[in-house]
Amino acid sequence: AVQNQETEFVGAIDCGTTSCRFYIFDQWADIVANFQIEFEQLHPEPGWHEHDPSTYCREIDRCIDEGIKQFKEKGHQIHELKCVGIATQRETTLLWDKETGEALYNAIAWPDARNAANVRELRAAAETRTFHTPEGEIVGEEGIRRLTGLPLSTYFSATKWDWMKDNVPEVKDAMDRQALMFGTVDTWLVYQYTGGKDGGKHITDGTNACRTLLFNLHKQDWCDELCDFFDVPKWCLPRIVSNSEVYGVFKKGHLLEGIPIAGLIGDQQAALVGNKCLTKGDAKNTYGTGCFMLYNTGTDIVKSTHGLVTTVGYKMGPQSPMHYALEGSIAVGGSSVTWLRDNLNIIEHPREAGKLAEMVEDTGGVYFVTGFSGLFAPYWDMRATGMMIGLSTYTTKHHIARATLEATCFQTRAILDAMTKDVQLAADGPHHHHHPHHQPVVSDRKDGEVEEDVASDSGSEDGEAIRVMQVDGGMTGSDVTMQLQADILGIDIRRPAMRESTVLGAALLAGAALKLFNWNLDKPKSLAKVNRLRVDTFQSQISDEEREWKYAGWVRAVDRARGWQT
Ligand code: G3P
Repeated sequence: AVQNQETEFVGAIDCGTTSCRFYIFDQWADIVANFQIEFEQLHPEPGWHEHDPSTYCREIDRCIDEGIKQFKEKGHQIHELKCVGIATQRETTLLWDKETGEALYNAIAWPDARNAANVRELRAAAETRTFHTPEGEIVGEEGIRRLTGLPLSTYFSATKWDWMKDNVPEVKDAMDRQALMFGTVDTWLVYQYTGGKDGGKHITDGTNACRTLLFNLHKQDWCDELCDFFDVPKWCLPRIVSNSEVYGVFKKGHLLEGIPIAGLIGDQQAALVGNKCLTKGDAKNTYGTGCFMLYNTGTDIVKSTHGLVTTVGYKMGPQSPMHYALEGSIAVGGSSVTWLRDNLNIIEHPREAGKLAEMVEDTGGVYFVTGFSGLFAPYWDMRATGMMIGLSTYTTKHHIARATLEATCFQTRAILDAMTKDVQLAADGPHHHHHPHHQPVVSDRKDGEVEEDVASDSGSEDGEAIRVMQVDGGMTGSDVTMQLQADILGIDIRRPAMRESTVLGAALLAGAALKLFNWNLDKPKSLAKVNRLRVDTFQSQISDEEREWKYAGWVRAVDRARGWQT
């Protein structure tokens, strides 16, 4: 007989930048149903990147329809789905009218760089302001950085808001009528799914809020000083909630009507949770549209002096403490591969990039700086552009494909170097003592062996260099890319068989909110049996000398791509 416990399942939505998906998991976090759709990207001008807001729910609903169909085909019923978690792309900004529930403009997606002039003006304006930080009064961008953990950049929501406020008359009008609602994608989705203008919840979580430039990391709340600086009326901001609690239920008439939404989180932090990186010192790197490395710093807010951002990691319930992370954000990851497909037309499917790359030994001296949104961490140069260098009559599409894959790997190297320095500095701080040096963890596991706890032995002790990196996301499906990554980093890369860490993280948060399956996210050990599948390890196959020589080429290439735009 089927036991009661086995009839409970958790759903998760992931609304990324280029695709969305819906998954249903069982108590082992094994996949019961799943469906994924790539959705439309709008590039009306060079450097612009928008989404039609109606796309999100429409495409997610298609995924839900398909997922539920599979679920039923396996003999299950909707009521066995106990709750749903939502993970989203972060920073992407939407403004809508509370009276109509309609968006006032397209969603401006996070890689959009149209607001570069706004950023320059804001930077100048900040120079005339004093910000009250925990370390005292600080003038200018640095003051903002101390409060938010972020540099002033085209990437974050408030600088996108600045552009919309200046250029979209409907926004001004809605502001005058006090009908304006501000949100990131998480906010928009929950609002729509819980009823829209008819009582839809207006909420966001800390991981999304902390990417707006309006959130004070130390106070864990919206910041009056910054709202004033960016001229954002506080009343249009969503209420901030934890990552794991019941926020509301799917509205009447929806296929999931009445099912609680119980997890809400930015996709990169979702992947941190999904990788079970729940202990200080754990790190993961997710290769999605962009590529994002997060390093769990526990309840410490670690300031970066090497170009990373300080960000909220997670808060596992209204009463749980907030955890933080250091993040290295790379704007272009998998989107470089879709660019090869959609713009250069040298491949028909992303997986062919690895196949092309494999057919040559090296890039033949080609470097491709994929600075399509300028360069994010650790460079933060909005004037950088995309650049290919080292081309000759010898160059083929194979070399270009390989250089494309290497670009993300080299940027990851720059991030890892920055992270190592920041973490060591933090540990060298006045209140820290050093832990004894550990030997590097070398995995001798073979394919098919069961992994005890994916995250447990990858974490580094306070201040220690990161020796093993856990990876997930689309690009990690390519063995050649992962080998290149191990070569370029010189550390081990560990890739779990189930690499949908983002949806898994959202599902864990939702399940834990309902206390399903004894999942307790404040006690990582309670997840020991979750996602225990095989792990592949990639180790460097090149010498330190070769690695440094290759990387030096990247550094020179980046130098040339920087500052190009006037
Ligand atoms: O900061 C942007 C990030 O949240 C987007 O993630 O997976 O769409 O690259 P992804």
